Amino acid sequence: MIHDIQKFLEVEKNDADVIMVSKWVGHYKTFLQKYKFDDRNQKMFEQVAHYFALRHAKREGFTNLSAGLLLFGGVGTGKTHAMRLLSSHFGIEFVEAQELAVQYAIGGDKGFSEWVADWKYKELIIDDIGAEREVKHFGNAGIVGEFIGQRYNLWTLEGKLTHMTSNLSEEDFIDRYGERTWSRLHEMCGFVSCVGKDARRTETP
Ligand SMILES: Nc1ncnc2c1ncn2[C@@H]1O[C@H](COP(=O)(O)OP(=O)(O)OP(=O)(O)O)[C@@H](O)[C@H]1O
Ligand SMILES: [Mg+2]
Repeated sequence: MIHDIQKFLEVEKNDADVIMVSKWVGHYKTFLQKYKFDDRNQKMFEQVAHYFALRHAKREGFTNLSAGLLLFGGVGTGKTHAMRLLSSHFGIEFVEAQELAVQYAIGGDKGFSEWVADWKYKELIIDDIGAEREVKHFGNAGIVGEFIGQRYNLWTLEGKLTHMTSNLSEEDFIDRYGERTWSRLHEMCGFVSCVGKDARRTETP
């Protein structure tokens, strides 16, 4: 699995930044624990806390965090849980890939573009890419792949971030959405690998 955390780190340019960010990393570790996102996968926990700290720094206007977050990996490893916290804490819009497919199936090109118009100038989280059903679409990458392409353009033009989760492997992702989409993801997001046991199967509610 890919670790592309470097994209997150490069925003820390001097010692003062490093000290401030590390203080916020500590703050967000406590925050995540408080909202029941724990360090069962320590590496993922550290990287997610680090990303929250940098996102906080961006909100404060002290850094220009340029990459979104892509949580990539196993089923039941806390990807959606972490993204919901990112969404509620930073006021970021949240949509499931499945919902994108449904809206396209209902509204076609026109209905879909009206439906997503509201996010055009906003940061967005797309959850569970690859879990949506296939809907008839003329592009090679399907409607979700095409939407990722639109978000890429928005990112290059306006700097608006897109965060995503997926449990597809690299191979399956490329199979489904093509090399072009995969290549864009690499540029626009930092990857965090999510490995570990499926919490849904190992924990009793
Ligand atoms: N690190 C974690 N700390 C606390 N709870 C966790 C953690 N990881 C998973 N869980 C719990 O496990 C369950 C599944 O988590 P979640 O839905 O976030 O998984 P997911 O990675 O999005 O899975 P999927 O790939 O199927 O969408 C939730 O109840 C969640 O709270
Ligand atoms: Mg999920």
